[in-house]
Amino acid sequence: MSSFLRPGQQAASQFGISFDADRGESSGGGAAAPVWNRNERLALDEQRRRLPIYAHRTQLLYLVEGHATTVIVGETGSGKTTQIPQYLHEAGWTQGGNLVACTQPRRVAAMTVAQRVAEEMGCRLGQEVGYGIRFEDITTPGVTKIRFCTDGVLLREMMEDPLLQRYSVVMVDEAHERSLATDLLLGLLKKVQRRRPDLRVIISSATIEAEKMARFFDTSNVRRPRGHVEAPAEGAAPSRSPALMSVEGRTHSVQVHYLEQPATDYLQAAVQAAVNIHREDLPGDILIFLTGQDECEAAVRQLEDEGRRLQRSKLSLRLKPVALYAGLPAAHQLGVFEPAPRGVRKVIVATNIAETSVTLEGIVYVIDSCFAKQRCYNPLTGLESLLIAPISKASAQQRAGRAGRVRPGHCFRLCTEEDYQEKLPLATVPEMQRSDLANAVLQLKSLGIDNIMSFDWLAPPPSETMVRALETLHALGALDLDARLSRPIGSQMADLPLDPVLARLLLAAGERGCTEEVLTVAAMLSVQSIWAPGGRREVDEAKALFAVAEGDLISYINVWRAWEESGRNKRWAVAHRVMHRNMLRAADIRNQLQAHLRRLGIPLKAALQGASSFDHADALTTVRKALAAGLFINAAKLTDEMTVKLSDQHDTGASVYRLVRSAGGDAAAAKLRIHHSSVLFRCHPQWVCFYGAEQNDSGWYEMRDVLAIESGWLTELAPHMHAAAGRRRAAPPPAPARTGPATAFYSSRCFSAWQVWKSAPQD
Ligand code: CDP
Ligand code: MG
Repeated sequence: MSSFLRPGQQAASQFGISFDADRGESSGGGAAAPVWNRNERLALDEQRRRLPIYAHRTQLLYLVEGHATTVIVGETGSGKTTQIPQYLHEAGWTQGGNLVACTQPRRVAAMTVAQRVAEEMGCRLGQEVGYGIRFEDITTPGVTKIRFCTDGVLLREMMEDPLLQRYSVVMVDEAHERSLATDLLLGLLKKVQRRRPDLRVIISSATIEAEKMARFFDTSNVRRPRGHVEAPAEGAAPSRSPALMSVEGRTHSVQVHYLEQPATDYLQAAVQAAVNIHREDLPGDILIFLTGQDECEAAVRQLEDEGRRLQRSKLSLRLKPVALYAGLPAAHQLGVFEPAPRGVRKVIVATNIAETSVTLEGIVYVIDSCFAKQRCYNPLTGLESLLIAPISKASAQQRAGRAGRVRPGHCFRLCTEEDYQEKLPLATVPEMQRSDLANAVLQLKSLGIDNIMSFDWLAPPPSETMVRALETLHALGALDLDARLSRPIGSQMADLPLDPVLARLLLAAGERGCTEEVLTVAAMLSVQSIWAPGGRREVDEAKALFAVAEGDLISYINVWRAWEESGRNKRWAVAHRVMHRNMLRAADIRNQLQAHLRRLGIPLKAALQGASSFDHADALTTVRKALAAGLFINAAKLTDEMTVKLSDQHDTGASVYRLVRSAGGDAAAAKLRIHHSSVLFRCHPQWVCFYGAEQNDSGWYEMRDVLAIESGWLTELAPHMHAAAGRRRAAPPPAPARTGPATAFYSSRCFSAWQVWKSAPQD
């Protein structure tokens, strides 16, 4: 590995990347065909008949027949997701080559539910029943009848097939979660229905949003515009007023308990609560809700230690903690759903992924931190952050409901009842109203919806966010001066299954002849971390081997090259603390992106490979400029300020950066620093671009995936946006104090160690 340089050295001559991406392996799908004996089949059929939704089968099919839209409300576990698509299939909605789609806000839900339904139908996953998530399509054209997919995937499909012609029914599941893609999808489906009266839409939602959904889809009083030509429907046209149906749950009562005193650390409190339940030695699995991957893994480690200690006492059950979060590799995610063997108590430590989307059997106790990571967006800075925020009461009730599936259960909320009542909002703010909308706007524009403001939103997004999205897309060259999709750049960007920034830099790479390198970067940015989890020091040491002064993105190219040179060797990956699985996934994504570029007629060229050592510096600059051609949206300049001290883990302060935007004081006021995970953490280049920034608990934005650039590049690459940036000498105006609700209640883990539980009436 001596060919890799450390920060501060010139990296260019060290590249000699060989591309051989055709060996990429897909990371999921294709499970073996289940072989059921007759008894198992009967048992599955019996299980299906026992679900609460079964009693409503005929009524449901009748409503779907007669109404363009049907809204279904039902407790988690009543059988909505797994049964409704099967009922539709059995009733003939998939005849004539039609498909039934069922969308999920999360990919794990799409995968697990597809697997389950394939089992119930006795077919191989990917045949009659399949799933689609970004970069992974496990379906067989002409064979698949029921397709579970993420809402984002169906949205993208609309760009090729705006009327979703191959679907007879689209079921939008978990609509109450109000994910950005679900909201967009609902608005678009309403539009599609006008042109396709034969299309049926089913919306499944928790009670809290059901009426709103039904009102939104009610077009019975809407007069058709003059000249509107209704597409001919077979048979009588369905009613345009939605049907509402509710399915009673099969849940038991759940007793809710609160803390008497607020906790100082909810993670500790959660672990302790689980241990206490276990010590009581009553049967039943435990589900703990925390906020993120790190927390889940930390809690699992602690519980494993506790489990070993407790094994000496004479408890009848052994403790088996498992983590469940969105970034968990597919195979591990599926492992969580296997029932615990006899004599073992499973403790699932999950993020809010386990709130509604997935079915976990056997849970009797829920321990709820009452927090979740929430995406927030500040249109003034254009920065998005994931903040740990209190969940809504609606969420808390969903979480509690997870305990009552098998028998009466208990939910332990790690907050006081007063905090619960006063500080938890009633419902979660829809993602649409707290996200960057550049991607959403690009998709709508590519669907020919030019007047974004008059689009039929379920909840209108804030106008500042909309303006910012239009500005960003214009700066990236996706929109022309009339805010129309530019050709070819804008339409090509919309075609790529990437966010606008990555799409733009990939196109820029096409213009500059370095697609091979930039494809690698884009693919590696599209997977979870490529570094194996571990202590800070070990991970830093592993990275140092590949680190270069040009920053993280160029270091990724180094990692990729070395992994390729090893022959994609797993042992090499383990030895270098690289996540082999994620590299394979990146390779698969890279292949797919390559195919997209080919389709768009963009030449695949490598700048670094084959360049003589003499030309390497130029070649590297070419790659960096292509990357900067998308990332200039997020550019920052070093100031002479230093932060006091990062945290207890850091012994020094960090250099302060400010966003560079000619837009004015607001954006320039945002202060940032380089995240400790970046290879540039101790390097402080004058000018940087970054792919993501995360706001930490103290309000600082920390830049990740950083690229060092040179001062003149911004004005060269984006003169319309950065005209003044290169010249600005004076320090930008000081940052406004970041106060207000965003941080007030968000200090992490503000609940305390184990307290005496106070019982409270049920929700
Ligand atoms: O969508 P809803 O919450 O109403 O229920 P569902 O997901 O259709 O689940 C109905 C039943 O199917 C559950 O009670 C489980 O018994 C079973 N199921 C399962 O065993 N494995 C899954 N991955 C999903 C559901
Ligand atoms: Mg469901």
